[in-house]
Amino acid sequence: ELNIWTDLCGIDEVGEGEAKAFLIGPKRLCAVNDGQNFFVVDDLCTHGVAYLSEGYCDTEECVLECPLHGGLFDYRDGSAQGDPAEKPVRSYAVLVEGNRVKVKL
Ligand code: FES
Repeated sequence: ELNIWTDLCGIDEVGEGEAKAFLIGPKRLCAVNDGQNFFVVDDLCTHGVAYLSEGYCDTEECVLECPLHGGLFDYRDGSAQGDPAEKPVRSYAVLVEGNRVKVKL
């Protein structure tokens, strides 16, 4: 059976309520640990050149706030939730297996 899951990081590499960047080949991904689940979206903002992992992670509203202009993205599905963000960031299916976080690229 084809293994569709790509290893991303260990579950203890992203603190609770934090977002952190990981590189997989040419991809730069942003992993969020909300304390219950892990979520992964593209790290590059769709509005400009800024990384969402370097902005504020709000686990109450389930959004990442872009550090450059404050655009908001729901880290659960990548949807744009606040100006000037309009276009969603891509989100990825996540599987936690043992102590590893895996993504479907
Ligand atoms: Fe992210 Fe402008 S670069 S909101």
